[in-house]
Amino acid sequence: MGRPAEEFLTALHEIEREGETAISSASSLDDLEAARVAFLGRKARLSLLLRGLAELPADERRAAGAKGNTVKKRLQELLEARRAELSSPAARDGAAPAYDPTLPGRSRWVGARHPVTQVIDEICDIFAEIGFVRARGPEIETPEYNFVKLNTPLDHPAADEHDTFYLPGNLLLRTHTSPVQARVMEKHEPPVRIVVPGMAFRRDPFDPSHAPAFEQIEGLAVDEGITFVDFKASINYFVRCFFGEDVRSRFRPSYFPFTEPSAEVDVSCHVCSGAGCSTCKGTGWLEIMGAGMVDPAVLETVGYDPERYSGFAFGMGPARIAMTRFGIPDIRLFYEGDARFLEQFASSQ
Ligand code: PHE
Repeated sequence: MGRPAEEFLTALHEIEREGETAISSASSLDDLEAARVAFLGRKARLSLLLRGLAELPADERRAAGAKGNTVKKRLQELLEARRAELSSPAARDGAAPAYDPTLPGRSRWVGARHPVTQVIDEICDIFAEIGFVRARGPEIETPEYNFVKLNTPLDHPAADEHDTFYLPGNLLLRTHTSPVQARVMEKHEPPVRIVVPGMAFRRDPFDPSHAPAFEQIEGLAVDEGITFVDFKASINYFVRCFFGEDVRSRFRPSYFPFTEPSAEVDVSCHVCSGAGCSTCKGTGWLEIMGAGMVDPAVLETVGYDPERYSGFAFGMGPARIAMTRFGIPDIRLFYEGDARFLEQFASSQ
């Protein structure tokens, strides 16, 4: 091959390499058009080179011309392929970053324990400190355990007042957690010290202060020599731990068939310190539990000797307590599972 043909091929390779680089590195359709004009346009080096073919010796012209056309075709194909890439939607957006780094971060919902569960755990932990262990019992009960063994004959008004949900087969949904008192005492000899968190059910309207299914925490302590002083001291210990040192308590006479004497326990309103506000409905006091000394008739029913043993029991509604603690006006909010409501309590645990 003579010199002119050699020069032709060297120049052709150079143009091919440079053309490839220009086309593949074009980052926009405008860049690509510039590359097209530079490498395939009428005045491009390749066009001039091909036009110069005529000057090559006749025997080399055909082979050189074929190579020149191959390069031209290859560059045209590369150009079309790159044009297709740059026209795709991904490439059009690709010019900008795939995300906007100036946007505020997305806050994530981290799970939180339900406010009522938090209150239940706190109450049970406080009683655990003075020796109360957790116990459980069935939500579906017999009238025997829900009423009779708790010194409440079925024709007793208390049995009606509870507005019971009855089930087929002489069963009912327990109206309080107190039947667990009888179940535990039947199984275990004294001393007994239990707290029983669980659901209770009553045919109450679902309104801002009532729910037909609600949590209760039952407490029971039975041993030799337990007196009203132990009862008051234990409740007061709980009140101070849960509500704070400054909160006062008062025991109002009340009536439950299974305790004697019975009391309702109030605490001074922690919002207004007893002056009267909307949380305590102007009274300065919040009722937190029903309680009393276990009625000897109950001890006898479960097989304990009432001459030897005595004790106290209490029952409270952790949802009501959570309402006053967190300033929640409507008990139904606890049941709705609305993340916007619940996430407010994520930091209170
Ligand atoms: N079981 C009663 C109620 O639900 C509360 C209570 C429990 C009272 C234990 C006294 C002793 O109203």
